[in-house]
Amino acid sequence: IKLAIVFGGKSSEYSISLHSVSAIINNVPRDKFDVTLIGITEEGKWLYYDGDAENVNNDTWNKNNNLNQVVLSLDNGFKGFIKLLGDNKYEKMDIDCVFPVLHGKNGEDGTIQGLCQLAGIPFVGCDMTSSAVCMDKEFTHVICEMAGIKTAPFMAVVNTKTLNLKSLYEEACEKLSLPMFIKPSNGGSSLGISKIRNYDEFEKGIMEAFEYDKKVVIETMIDGFEIGCAVIGNDELIVGEVDEIDTKNDFFDYVEKYQQSNSKIYCPARISDELKNRAKEIAKMTYKALRCSGMARVDMFLTSSNEILLNEVNTIPGLTDVSRYPSMLKKIGIEYKDLIVKLVDLAME
Ligand code: DAL
Ligand code: MG
Repeated sequence: IKLAIVFGGKSSEYSISLHSVSAIINNVPRDKFDVTLIGITEEGKWLYYDGDAENVNNDTWNKNNNLNQVVLSLDNGFKGFIKLLGDNKYEKMDIDCVFPVLHGKNGEDGTIQGLCQLAGIPFVGCDMTSSAVCMDKEFTHVICEMAGIKTAPFMAVVNTKTLNLKSLYEEACEKLSLPMFIKPSNGGSSLGISKIRNYDEFEKGIMEAFEYDKKVVIETMIDGFEIGCAVIGNDELIVGEVDEIDTKNDFFDYVEKYQQSNSKIYCPARISDELKNRAKEIAKMTYKALRCSGMARVDMFLTSSNEILLNEVNTIPGLTDVSRYPSMLKKIGIEYKDLIVKLVDLAME
C-alpha cells in the first residue's frame, strides 16, 4: 500500500504533530507500506521529505534544505501528489491512502479530510463532516445533547464588534455559575483555555481564547476529574482501556499535557469497573452520534457524584507511542505497530 503520511500543519499544535509522526515513521511496518512523507510547514507550505524521524522530532526537517514542494492532485484520474521539480518539471507520486497526522486547525478539523475526499483518496480517521464537528466544541456539545449524552452546561459566543463583555459576564454567571472555563471553540492541547473566578479573569480569558478562534465556549467548571477512552473502528467499534488524569493544576493544560510535572495519567483509571463500563458505553455512543470513523479519543469528566459528562472528542489524538490513545489500546492488546496497520485498513474498507 502506498501510504502518504502528512505531518506538521498550519496549527498551534504543529510541534505536537512532529512528535506524533516521528513515532509513526519509526514504527510503520515497511513490508506492508511504501511510505511517502509530506510535511506541512507552520506557514502552510507542503513539502516532500525523505529524511529521518529524528529531524522531524526536533523540527529541523525543513531547515537548510531545499525540499521540493508538493501539491495534491484533485484530478481523480490520477490519485496522488505531484512533486514540483522546478523548470516546469514535475513528478507524479501515486498514493493509495493518506494518513493525516495533524492536530488542531487545518488538519484535524475537516479541511485536509475534505481535500482527500475531493481527490478521491482514502484517508485515516473521521470524514470531513465528522472531523469538523468534533473540532468545534459548540457543535460537539449540541449534537451530543441531542443524542442524550450529557455535557457540562455551556454557552457559545462569537466575537463581534458589538460584544459587551460586562453583560456577557453577567449572563454567564447566571446561566453557568462560577468558576467557569473559557475555551476556543476550535482548538486543541488546551491552548487558549482559562479558568474564570471573577470578571478580570473573564475579560482576560475571553480575549485570549479569541486569539485562537472567533468563537469561544464558556462552560461550568465540573467538580471531578478527566477520564478518557480510545475508540477504533468504522461500524464495529473496539474500545480501549479507560484512563484517568490526575492533575494538581487547575486543568490539564498545555505544559502538563506534554511534561506532566504536576500530573499523572493512570491507565487503567482508578475507578470501579461499573464506572469504566459506563465510560466505554458513553465513548461509543459519542463516537456514533458524531459519525466518527477510524479513530477518536473521547474525553469525559467523572463528577464527584459519579456522573459522566462528555468533555470533547479528538479525532486525531496525540499518537506518540506513549500517548494516551495508543496506551489505552495497548492495554487491550493492540500494539502500536498493529494500530497503524489497523487504522490504514479501516481507511481502505
Ligand atoms: N490535541 C492533542 C494532540 C490530543 O488530543 O491528544
Ligand atoms: Mg483536544
